[in-house]
Parts: sequence; C-alpha cells; structure tokens
Amino acid sequence: MADIYQFKNLGDGRGSLVSLESNKNLPFNIKRVYYMYGCTPTKPRGFHAHRELQQIAIAISGSCRILLDDGITKKWLQLNSPEQGVHIGNMVWHEMHDFSDDCILMVLADDFYDEADYIRDYDQFTNSMRGVI
Ligand code: TYD
Repeated sequence: MADIYQFKNLGDGRGSLVSLESNKNLPFNIKRVYYMYGCTPTKPRGFHAHRELQQIAIAISGSCRILLDDGITKKWLQLNSPEQGVHIGNMVWHEMHDFSDDCILMVLADDFYDEADYIRDYDQFTNSMRGVI
C-alpha cells in the first residue's frame, strides 16, 4: 500500500538534482503535476481516495505526515526528503497532516483532474472496499 520510491540525487558540488521520468524511476506516465504550499499544521488536507488515480507525493521542501489507509490497514509516514516519494495507489484513503511552514508537497499523477474519481466520504470508501456498494 505504501511503496516508497528512493530517487537518486544526481547533484554535485553545485547542489542537488533529482530527475523524475515517466515509467523509468516512476511507476506510471505523468499526466499532471500539482503542488501544495503555504499549508499549516492545523489544517490537514486530503481526506479522500481515488477510484482509479495513481499518484506519487514528494515533499520537495519541508515536511508533513501522510496517512495511508486501504480500509484495513492504516499507515503513517513522514515525508521529509526531496529524494523520496510515496506511492498513493487507487482506493487508498489519504490524509496529509502536520505541514511544516516551508513544506512544498508536490504530487505527480497519472491522469488529469476529475472530481468524479474522488471518494470524499470515509464510510462510502470503507463500504466500497468491503464490496458493500
Ligand atoms: P482537493 O483535491 O480537495 O485538495 P486536498 O485533497 O489537498 O485537500 O483540491 C482542492 C481544490 O482544487 C478542489 O476545488 C479541486 C481543485 N483541484 C483542481 O482543480 N485540480 C487539481 O489537480 C487538484 C488536485 C485540485
């Protein structure tokens, strides 16, 4: 549920550099990139799952915590490295908490934005995971 991708730092004496390439060091073809910044510890985000979307989240600056929940297991991870990404698979409820002031959370997604792909109700999410609806 929570595959961590470790990206190679291609940097040198001038600083660090990480390169992300579709279907090379990422498990899918990137169609969309978005990022969150100016978030605060008191305002968690996310609180949804996606029916189909695959994503990789990377804290390219600062840190936050992410909860991944497949309806059975809950896993908390700390995102605090531009060299590390967490895979958020489809049908994984996720929440982002405890953003540092300098946090920039970049997300790579395998499809365009589509509100119909969201499940924003936790009971609906767990019911669909149990095959109830
Ligand atoms: P939302 O996914 O609810 O943010 P979060 O999960 O971080 O709490 O998105 C916030 C708003 O931005 C919502 O109105 C949808 C819009 N949005 C887009 O238009 N395009 C996008 O790629 C994303 C991720 C969100």
